Amino acid sequence: MESGEEHDPAHVQPRDDTAARLRRRLLDGLRSSGQLRSPDVERAMDAVPRELFTPPGTDLREAYADRVVVLATDSTGSPISTVSQPAIVALMLEQLDVRAGHRILEIGTGSGYNTALLAELTGPRGSVTSIEVDDSLLASAAARLTDLAPGEGTPLDLRRGDGWLGVPDTAPYDRLESTVGVDDLPPAWRTQLADGGVLVAPLWLRPGLELSLAMRREGALLHSTSVEQCGFLQLRGPHAADPHSRALGQGLAVIGEGLSTKQLEMVRTLTDTGGTDLGAAPRLSERRWWGLSLSDPRTLLITGRHGGHVAWGLFDADGPDGAGLAVVHDGRVIGYGDGNAADVLRQRVEDAPPVDPSRLTVTAYPPDATIPAPPSRGFSWRITREHHRYRVHWQPE
Ligand SMILES: C[S@@+](CC[C@H](N)C(=O)[O-])C[C@H]1O[C@@H](n2cnc3c(N)ncnc32)[C@H](O)[C@@H]1O
Repeated sequence: MESGEEHDPAHVQPRDDTAARLRRRLLDGLRSSGQLRSPDVERAMDAVPRELFTPPGTDLREAYADRVVVLATDSTGSPISTVSQPAIVALMLEQLDVRAGHRILEIGTGSGYNTALLAELTGPRGSVTSIEVDDSLLASAAARLTDLAPGEGTPLDLRRGDGWLGVPDTAPYDRLESTVGVDDLPPAWRTQLADGGVLVAPLWLRPGLELSLAMRREGALLHSTSVEQCGFLQLRGPHAADPHSRALGQGLAVIGEGLSTKQLEMVRTLTDTGGTDLGAAPRLSERRWWGLSLSDPRTLLITGRHGGHVAWGLFDADGPDGAGLAVVHDGRVIGYGDGNAADVLRQRVEDAPPVDPSRLTVTAYPPDATIPAPPSRGFSWRITREHHRYRVHWQPE
């Protein structure tokens, strides 16, 4: 026997105790790394067999690894649906703070795994409505959920449609969880949430800064109660944001904030021409980068075509001598085009506060609301999107 597979318990007909043992090991790991915090979420994750929600043929050990499992890809091979990584599933459920009897709306049914966990958490006195844009994913999830009947018969209502619009006919909800990322919170999510209710959603704020926000509805406002870092697939359909990552030449890609086609072309031309080494860069930690990217929408990330950090930088389309790009790569500042961008980048790095994302607070205001003056201590930034204006505040310890 070459592979030894016949001796491997994860490859033979899965026995319930193997799955239970792997599940326990996963949950122990999540507890010790801090993503799993409450007995309720742990009980729910222990009650739902994740292997029932992974594609047929998935190795049992893969189903219980702390990793994303891809469910569907687009024509280029990029994932469009996944069973999310258990660590982020646990963390978001902790943020959501579900109580028995809650009426819950989930955006992005995917495999139905998280739907089952929500059903376990709210129980038969509550309900879970879940909406998925993709017909065939929804059909598979519905079949699995019907077989499993999670939460001792918690009422489940599965809908096909655009989750951007929520599900108005069964609103209001006590809890709303989006398992797909957005650049702006849809107004429907706020208006379909009961006052005092909590939504948890991945919000992309700046290149390299995507946050899982738990936000409590306070009238017309949403105010964060918990902030964690995350990385998510983007919402699809008519309300999809522009792709974050766009191809440059030489196997590279750029992630910027609202780069127009013309600006993207400028960045391509600049990077194609080759850069000039402008000397040692000031130390740029990840935290300082987050402070910098919150402070200046001209910041961008250069990555490999399939992800993987290459360089942090700043693009100035209107420098004194034309467009300029400067990046920090391997401790050096590399400049392209107008050299002013490098001076601005150096200054910005010096000034940027070293932000800890979990200590950020975020308030979402409707476009017509008056935003009060920021607290006198700490750092505040405003990020304006079409449907909300966000005030992001960071208070050093
Ligand atoms: C990360 S996956 C969700 C994982 C899922 N909760 C699970 O436990 O398997 C994101 C899902 O959101 C769905 N999605 C994307 N855009 C959507 C939209 N506009 N409305 C509803 N669902 C959407 C995708 O098809 C995908 O299945």
